Amino acid sequence: MENKLYQGDALSLLPTLEADSFDALITDPPYASGGVTAAERRRPPSEKYQQTGQRLLHAEFVGDERDQRAHLRWMVMWLSECQRLLRDGAPVCLFTDWRQLPLTTDALQCAGFTWRGVLVWDKTEGVRPQLGRPRNQAEYVVWGSKGAMPTSRMAPVLPGVIREPVRRVDKYHMTGKPTALMRQLVRICEPGGRILDPFAGSGTTLLAAQLEGYRWAGCEMTSHYARIAQERLHDATRDAMT
Ligand SMILES: C[S@@+](CC[C@H](N)C(=O)[O-])C[C@H]1O[C@@H](n2cnc3c(N)ncnc32)[C@H](O)[C@@H]1O
Repeated sequence: MENKLYQGDALSLLPTLEADSFDALITDPPYASGGVTAAERRRPPSEKYQQTGQRLLHAEFVGDERDQRAHLRWMVMWLSECQRLLRDGAPVCLFTDWRQLPLTTDALQCAGFTWRGVLVWDKTEGVRPQLGRPRNQAEYVVWGSKGAMPTSRMAPVLPGVIREPVRRVDKYHMTGKPTALMRQLVRICEPGGRILDPFAGSGTTLLAAQLEGYRWAGCEMTSHYARIAQERLHDATRDAMT
């Protein structure tokens, strides 16, 4: 099966993909976070995730405005669709922040996956300091599997904390993840396996998969980011051939 990035709504695209055809789900869905009240969460991502007064460095993206109950329902809907696409024993990794950590562990389990742990992404002291409060220095990867996940799988020991700063030169999306972080994370998939990312954004998971020798498929709804992802993946393929 060829590597492919689909542009559109994951909820419509996932049902068109072949059952039992992926070896890992690794994704960074919209968090629907960035505030305590429903009104605060309905604000555009630039108001929630960029510092006040900063010029717009990256385009807005869709799907981040749901209130808590709608977000949980939506998470369970697409995760349930991924159940069908994954092979037995496949690992699942879902990015989230401190606010949405409980919802994300619930969603994983409601969709029928086995919850196995939480990995910490330490963004380092480069994040915004808060006077009199701890820095919000971490995001989280809720991880689990489709049923049993034997330790005899052909995957290496992975770190429980990955310390990796966000670097401007490696950031192609408003909430883009560092390529080095994703290159470590994709190794949870057995060598040569096929990785699914239904919320590809600027394509960092898919790029990391490609650089680490995996096959991949992904979806992205915001056309601006789907284009950026295509370009990054195209450049990586070209570089590998020269
Ligand atoms: C948190 S971002 C992913 C960023 C990515 N990890 C990166 O490094 O660039 C989530 C992405 O999901 C996309 N998205 C939101 N709802 C979607 C949907 N229903 N189907 C497909 N993509 C969607 C958004 O446009 C956004 O780009």
